[in-house]
Amino acid sequence: MNTNKLYGVILAAGQGTRMKSALPKVLHKICGKELLSCVLECMNSAAKFEKLTVVVGNGADKVTEHINNYKNTDYVFQKERLGSAHALLQSESKLKNNDGNLIVMCGDTPLVKPETIKNLLKYHTKNKNDATVLSGCVENPFGYGRIVRTSDGTFTEIVEEKSASEEQKKINEINSGIYCFNLKTLWKALKKVDNNNSKKEYYLTDVISILNKDGYKTGAVDIADEEEILGVNDRSQLAEAEMILRFRKIDELFESGVTITDPSTTYIDADVVIGQDTIIKPNTHIEGRTKIGRNCIIGPDTTIINSKISDDVSIIYSCVENSEINKNVKIGPYSHIRPESILKENVKVGNFSEVKKSVVGIGSKVNHLSYIGDAQVGKNVNIGAGTITCNYDGKNKFKTIINDDVFVGSNVNLVAPVNIGKKVLIAAGSTITDDVQPNQLTIARARQITKIRKK
Ligand code: UD1
Ligand code: CA
Repeated sequence: MNTNKLYGVILAAGQGTRMKSALPKVLHKICGKELLSCVLECMNSAAKFEKLTVVVGNGADKVTEHINNYKNTDYVFQKERLGSAHALLQSESKLKNNDGNLIVMCGDTPLVKPETIKNLLKYHTKNKNDATVLSGCVENPFGYGRIVRTSDGTFTEIVEEKSASEEQKKINEINSGIYCFNLKTLWKALKKVDNNNSKKEYYLTDVISILNKDGYKTGAVDIADEEEILGVNDRSQLAEAEMILRFRKIDELFESGVTITDPSTTYIDADVVIGQDTIIKPNTHIEGRTKIGRNCIIGPDTTIINSKISDDVSIIYSCVENSEINKNVKIGPYSHIRPESILKENVKVGNFSEVKKSVVGIGSKVNHLSYIGDAQVGKNVNIGAGTITCNYDGKNKFKTIINDDVFVGSNVNLVAPVNIGKKVLIAAGSTITDDVQPNQLTIARARQITKIRKK
């Protein structure tokens, strides 16, 4: 019986030896996204899977923890890394009672597009294949399995680099490591794979010649572009994959109406969202789950990490982390907005100022050389140049509250905990240690004495 049910397995147990890393290979990131996430998200946008199963092994704890973020995704453990066929066989316990098709992907091919998986599945079903390999023609096939065909084009087998003859090494149609199998015929063939090769590994690729010999129908279809099937095995391929994804992201942003003045120095993570008519200037890094609204001007030389930026915001030569920046705020040049800060509408944080874990109310200004930490600043407050919230006594952090319409003169120290009432005026150079009631003028500094100068 043939059903339309679809399952997916991702092979991700490999050592990733060539990465030379303590981190499992599939958890390395490109444009802020783990390789494994790229693959899982590609599969989920390509089709509706009954279930996805990840084969884990190397660094299993970390990998399974990551998998927990995904619905409908479980894992099987491959105790020993005996090769990709052995890896796939581990998923039999989860899948053997099921009919339908199985898409197999490797956890280290992060650039495959959902459309390509859809087309692979279409081709596989249309041709009533038992196994279909997604292949691709590449300029440099070194290291990949080669697709071997007879002179009339019939696909006979896949030969791995190390087992390939000089003639076969010249073949530039390669195995992407992505397959579609008929679940019913897979397991028996998989068990026939042996490890008679130089690496003493059970190669999944051998399943093709086995199926062919047993009279089943296999096919290889070259529908992916070379970039998509890049496998990440070492740091240089990781950088290559990142570069490709980075420019894909930039193209996507161009299409949605974002201006990026210098793509070659702009780094925008895969999950970043940017609104129409925003301009991104050179040397700018926008990372993590950052969301930026419309009509903003970001950069040059700016880094924004996991932050929510509203419309009409301008940020120049600055760094913003884990913060919320509301409409029409202006930041920089040279400001640092540290985690858990909220800048309300029309706020200005200017030259060389730092804000940490603070709320700055509508229309308030922190324009010059200030440090605002653990503070709650009301509306229309003016923070004079050089103002410091002294929030830390070496052991604990304390809070500074500055209410609406306060005017803080230049070079004021606010020794927390301290509460400044509405409309207070603090004289320049004051060190404030006590709360101030609303509408007062407060001065806390030594009087100036001027004497005749001794000769
Ligand atoms: C594999 C293919 C090769 C193809 C290339 C595409 C085999 C034998 N070769 O080669 O034809 O051109 O991918 O990128 O499959 N894995 C396990 N357990 C193991 C061994 C591997 O889970 O015991 C996983 C790895 O984590 C990886 C995938 O299988 O995701 C492929 O293994 P890898 O060692 O990267 O194979 P390649 O040499 O790249
Ligand atoms: Ca690989």
